[in-house]
Amino acid sequence: MDKLIIDTDPGVDDGMALQFALASEELHIVGITTVFGNVDIQQTTKNALRLLHLANRPDIPIAKGASKPVQGEFLGGVPFVHGDDGQGNTWKPAGPLKPINTPADEFIIEQVLRYPDQICIAALGPLTNLAMALEKEPKIQDRVKEIVFMGGNAFCSGNATPAAEANMLSDPEAADKVLGANWPMTMVGLDVTHKTMLSRDTLNRISLFRSPLNDHVMEAYQFYQDFFMKTNKIDGTFVHDSSVIAYFIDRSLYKTLEYPIRVETQHCISRGKTWPSLGEADHEGAKALEPWRNRPKIKICLDVKDQEVIQLLEERLTQ
Ligand code: BDR
Ligand code: CA
Repeated sequence: MDKLIIDTDPGVDDGMALQFALASEELHIVGITTVFGNVDIQQTTKNALRLLHLANRPDIPIAKGASKPVQGEFLGGVPFVHGDDGQGNTWKPAGPLKPINTPADEFIIEQVLRYPDQICIAALGPLTNLAMALEKEPKIQDRVKEIVFMGGNAFCSGNATPAAEANMLSDPEAADKVLGANWPMTMVGLDVTHKTMLSRDTLNRISLFRSPLNDHVMEAYQFYQDFFMKTNKIDGTFVHDSSVIAYFIDRSLYKTLEYPIRVETQHCISRGKTWPSLGEADHEGAKALEPWRNRPKIKICLDVKDQEVIQLLEERLTQ
């Protein structure tokens, strides 16, 4: 069983991903780390506390993380996607749970050093906490078992801008650092999450299952679904963060290929774009390929058995 840290910025779909992970015996969640992203860090942390309270899992520690990118300021997130409270404007109180005193980056370092080669990280928001942990303790890159992150777009357009996906755009400098480190990494980006759609019919069936956590996630989901209806003209939602959990449960659901990746960090219209190098022209004289040379290969999910992912998600959320 994988020991899992979920690094997250809840976020309506982060909430569902957490519910999915909690319902999956294959995963042993050893902690949740929060990060700014969809909304500010105070609110994402409150939301994580609330979600764990509703799940009746006070035993899982929550470590509060970064409030802003490694360079620059938090730009306000995407309340138009997730609601001003990040939970579809349901405005529920955080509840009785409290974060631990250890900050997220130190919690990650502590767990990885305590359990070498055993800790997996599901990164569902900007990669800031991971970049900070790496900066403080570079040794962790040799001791993490696997990092699977939701973010990026290899061979398709972005969702936050035509070029970039939202988690990468929230902190491109952190993403470029994390994607350049020497740890096993898998990218679950828009190449597959935009192929995986949770339809309104499936959501309606999931809503029939009653539990405090499911009731809340489904209530929050209405706002999220309205956003997709207005913006993408789809009667349902794409499955972003839960796709990482599906990958951890059953890797055979995804087809991957390996490429080194650079993230655009310049303040230009492509800021936050993940650029895989196909390497066709990579001979010594190809100076233009220098930025990708000696970068680690990252598994990029390029295709998905989408119906099976949806089936797995529905099964777990309603059990
Ligand atoms: C990602 O951005 C956030 O809005 C979602 O929670 C997800 O992690 C999708 O681009
Ligand atoms: Ca997220």
